[in-house]
Amino acid sequence: MKTRITELFGIKYPIVLSGMSWVSVPEMVATVSNAGGLGILATGPLDADQTRQSVRKIRSLTDKPFGANASLLFPGAAENAMVLLEEKVPVINFALGKGDWIVKAAHEYGGKVVATVVNHRHAKRAQDYGTDSVIVTGHEAAAHGESGTTFCLIPSISAALDIPVIAAGGVADGRGLAAALALGAEGVAMGTRLMATKESPLHDTYKKLSVEKDLYDTLFSDRFDGLWCRVLDTSAARKAVKEGLNIKKLLQAIPNSRDIAAQMHMPYLKLFIGVLASGWKNARQLAFMANAFRAIRIATEDGDMAEGVLPVGQCTGLLQDIPTVEELFKRIIKEAEDVQLDLALKMEANGAAKPRPAAKTKTAGTKAAPKKTRSNPTPKKTAKA
Ligand SMILES: Cc1cc2nc3c(=O)[nH]c(=O)nc-3n(C[C@H](O)[C@H](O)[C@H](O)COP(=O)(O)O)c2cc1C
Repeated sequence: MKTRITELFGIKYPIVLSGMSWVSVPEMVATVSNAGGLGILATGPLDADQTRQSVRKIRSLTDKPFGANASLLFPGAAENAMVLLEEKVPVINFALGKGDWIVKAAHEYGGKVVATVVNHRHAKRAQDYGTDSVIVTGHEAAAHGESGTTFCLIPSISAALDIPVIAAGGVADGRGLAAALALGAEGVAMGTRLMATKESPLHDTYKKLSVEKDLYDTLFSDRFDGLWCRVLDTSAARKAVKEGLNIKKLLQAIPNSRDIAAQMHMPYLKLFIGVLASGWKNARQLAFMANAFRAIRIATEDGDMAEGVLPVGQCTGLLQDIPTVEELFKRIIKEAEDVQLDLALKMEANGAAKPRPAAKTKTAGTKAAPKKTRSNPTPKKTAKA
């Protein structure tokens, strides 16, 4: 399947592994790239040395193109991005910050850069400073998102940009891929679907849960890590969201941020003083992150149900099994092709002229970003098909 994304990255299928902390590790990245997609390493939990070793490990496991992410809001992310540039990583994916300096440096060695965005303003800004593509993340997605849904954001942003768009949020099968292409995207990024595959390092407890749970079994709140974030609805997640950053949680952030400093080989005092000096808003955000980091790590690595919390998207309700990555990709591509054919036949049967590729429509300028209203998932359950 050829699209502007397969051409841009030199990959077989327009499918990207989202950068997921503790899940998108070197072995998983290489598995996805070897299966024809683009694996993206998550560098959030890594220090600069670990990032370098991880990139080298991926190169020892695959000769196919791969990527790595840097969530610029996290401590140590700029240092990690510098390593990615030094190692000439083929595709760098940045989020939660301004990556113009990454674009400039990556283009010097022929690397490609993808920005993860959740609204028009950020998408347009990324294109303006030369980013090659954007991953547009809809409301349905695991982890961070805004109120715009994939179904509305993708056509709207892809019509407003010249660079190719990758749709993220809610894509779990061939119908999702076909729909994303119909909406104007040139590829998809998947987190929830790929974390529940045989090769994924996610703990079995959560792999099984993500197959059992349905589409209403997620919580979308800004009281888990301080940003609007979607996680699996469990009693631990409800407790974390209820407590937010109360005094107890604020105190817990101190040892938890010590863990982060140790993990990142960063002097704790330097991290602590730096955070305090950066002002209350920033310190509050980092305290939230410190607690959330621990909760996500113990969920993904240890399968902890008592205090662990796992980011999960609404498409958890579409998961029926735990396939290998290769099986999944073959199934998705076949299903997307079948869906396209089926639609073409339906159109023909309904008297449409011979099917032809839809023309890409452009709007003059971008519309205003959606109003900041929040919608909550309907609190009722449906059985899986
Ligand atoms: C277990 C898990 C961990 C994640 N960790 C991160 C992360 O560290 N940084 C980030 O930017 N996004 C993270 N995400 C979000 C994904 O990158 C992606 O945006 C999202 O999964 C796409 O939506 P989908 O889950 O519906 O496919 C995570 C998602 C999951 C499921």
